[in-house]
Amino acid sequence: MRQQFVKLISLVVALLGLSTALVLALGFVFFLSFSGVQLPSLTEGLQANPVEAVEIPVVKALIDPASVWKASDWSVMDKEPNADELNYGKELVANTAEYLGPKGKVKAISNGMNCQNCHLQAGTAPFGNNYSAVAATYPKFRARSGTEEDIQKRINDCFERSLNGKPLAKDSKEMKAMVAYINWVGKEVPKGEVPIGSGLYEVPLLDRAADPIKGKLVYGKQCASCHQADGRGVSKPDGSGYVYPPLWGENSYNHGAGLYRLSRFAGYVKANMPLGATFKQPILSDEESWDLAAYVNSMERPAKDLSKDWPDISKKPIDHPFGPFTDGFTEEQHKFGPFKPIKAAKATPN
Ligand code: HEC
Ligand code: HEC
Repeated sequence: MRQQFVKLISLVVALLGLSTALVLALGFVFFLSFSGVQLPSLTEGLQANPVEAVEIPVVKALIDPASVWKASDWSVMDKEPNADELNYGKELVANTAEYLGPKGKVKAISNGMNCQNCHLQAGTAPFGNNYSAVAATYPKFRARSGTEEDIQKRINDCFERSLNGKPLAKDSKEMKAMVAYINWVGKEVPKGEVPIGSGLYEVPLLDRAADPIKGKLVYGKQCASCHQADGRGVSKPDGSGYVYPPLWGENSYNHGAGLYRLSRFAGYVKANMPLGATFKQPILSDEESWDLAAYVNSMERPAKDLSKDWPDISKKPIDHPFGPFTDGFTEEQHKFGPFKPIKAAKATPN
């Protein structure tokens, strides 16, 4: 009984002592913080040894995504009465080489690239060179040929230029399927309209000429890992097409292709490359996009007879790099820029 009492007392005393010490300590800290003495910060240890600051750039969409065209879901396509034909058309766009490339199982008429290499997600990606405007705007007059073109002619333009190949017969099963599919992609767009997000992004013009030397540096850092330092891309192991398509060399697009114009190339890469970039999350700056276009389009690629193009030479786009021109600017300036003076001269015809 007495022993327990002593235990209790010593416990109380110990507790009292502990709490007094606590109060004193707190009071001291309190006093210090009000007396202006600097207390060591808890995070100071971290600050003294800073982790390398990771710069998180504020990425801004190129255009408000809410205003941009969206493709219908492919599951909707499967319910169409001609779903088989539509699926074949989509497959031909996505895996062109397998059917129509150098080892194509239908016919060998093209260079091993797929339409989808440039018309991303089978021509449905916003600012990924999609087909949203095709059904609504073809047939249409095109100044390049100086004729009214139907969708078949436009598809064959890409076969003969972008795929550096031969045209596909208009009445072939393959042509019919591709036309049906491309019409399906744009089926909800009202006649004559070009939706926002159609085709390619227009990169603002620079005040200077695009610079292939700067472009080469960017290429080494941002592109060579996939498209290779020699621009030839990476073939599939069986040689039936590409894992990473070529950007120049004999299996790339030819001089007559859309991407050979710097504005088209810059617009394509700005919103789509390096792989993973989108118009919502672009990676390259405007200058890098133009300089890359200048570099890649300075390298060797197949030629094409363009003597029949642009029958009215005054209709050549400002970045069409082959003369003759009506405006007195050189081929060099029409290829690399600066484009603003050419544009201004076009706007004020004399
Ligand atoms: C090397 C890149 C590339 C490849 C490969 C390619 N195209 Fe194109 N295509 C383009 C470019 C660039 C344009 C013009 C875009 C512009 O001026 O806005 C274009 C335009 C088109 C258009 C017209 C679009 C419109 O709105 O007027 C159609 C249709 C088309 N391509 C179909 C095809 C088909 C089908 C294939 C495959 C057989 C193909 N393309 C392969 C680059 C390519
Ligand atoms: C991670 C790999 C990767 C990187 C890095 C990359 N690309 Fe691509 N690129 C691709 C793939 C894959 C395609 C084809 C996309 C498809 O078929 O869906 C492509 C397609 C292209 C095309 C159109 C097809 C052609 O061959 O002409 C161009 C032009 C292009 N890339 C340019 C660039 C440029 C310029 C860079 C550097 C800024 C770059 N790419 C970086 C993987 C890459």
